[in-house]
Amino acid sequence: MSLGRVDFSGKKVSATEADAIIADLKQYLLGLADKWLIKGRFHTDMGNGTLPMEAIKIFWQNWYGFVAEINNFHGVAYQRQQPFFKRHPELLKHFAAHVADEMIHPKPPGHIQIVLEQGRNFGLQDDDMVEYEMLAECRAFLEYYRGVLYEGTTAEWWASFCVEEAVGHWARFFGGALRKSYNFPEDKIVYFRVHAKADLEEHDGIMAHADLDWLVLKNLLMEGKAETRPGFNLEYCMRMGTSYFAMFFEGVYQQIKKEGLYKE
Ligand SMILES: [Fe+2]
Ligand SMILES: [Fe+2]
Repeated sequence: MSLGRVDFSGKKVSATEADAIIADLKQYLLGLADKWLIKGRFHTDMGNGTLPMEAIKIFWQNWYGFVAEINNFHGVAYQRQQPFFKRHPELLKHFAAHVADEMIHPKPPGHIQIVLEQGRNFGLQDDDMVEYEMLAECRAFLEYYRGVLYEGTTAEWWASFCVEEAVGHWARFFGGALRKSYNFPEDKIVYFRVHAKADLEEHDGIMAHADLDWLVLKNLLMEGKAETRPGFNLEYCMRMGTSYFAMFFEGVYQQIKKEGLYKE
């Protein structure tokens, strides 16, 4: 059994053991992200330049709806999970910086502003994003996080949020494909540059978002606080987050190709 499937509820593990669990989970997450996301048909077509621009626009309308809420969820987690973070001022410092980064970088209201800017670069009007009715497959990604936030455990939240690591790698791929296959100049892919950096690299003294996600999870494991509900384990959280992320693109793809629910 892989380490990520063990029930760690109430079990304190050493720093070395925690590192081994995290390494296992990270490898699992990146493997799934590569298989389901990057090698999925949306991104394969995008890499070849055969995905119609219309698909990228629809994706972006949905992505706006996702970003508009997900960063606020992290703010809600900041409030709900204070009991743990109160005893960890070092982690709290990074958590505060993480939440703030999404809200104020490069200027308030933060990343959501770059989502609008990026959408305009794709030829969308602000209203096309703000008033858009999200597809079910895309909304599901958001709703999974809402469910874990309000009904799940702290460990489930952070394990699910580790998917931010995959988001960083995805942003790098997406920006590269826009540059290479869709001839977007550097200044028109700002969202993807900002994201790959924010999620994967230390920037302006702020820890890479994904590094913080893993670090909080490691601390929860070491303190015996990595509790998970029946039918949930840390690996499952990675799998669900990544599945919904992949489904997000699959929904857009099906709509464009008029498949499944979108058949006419
Ligand atoms: Fe962001
Ligand atoms: Fe982030």
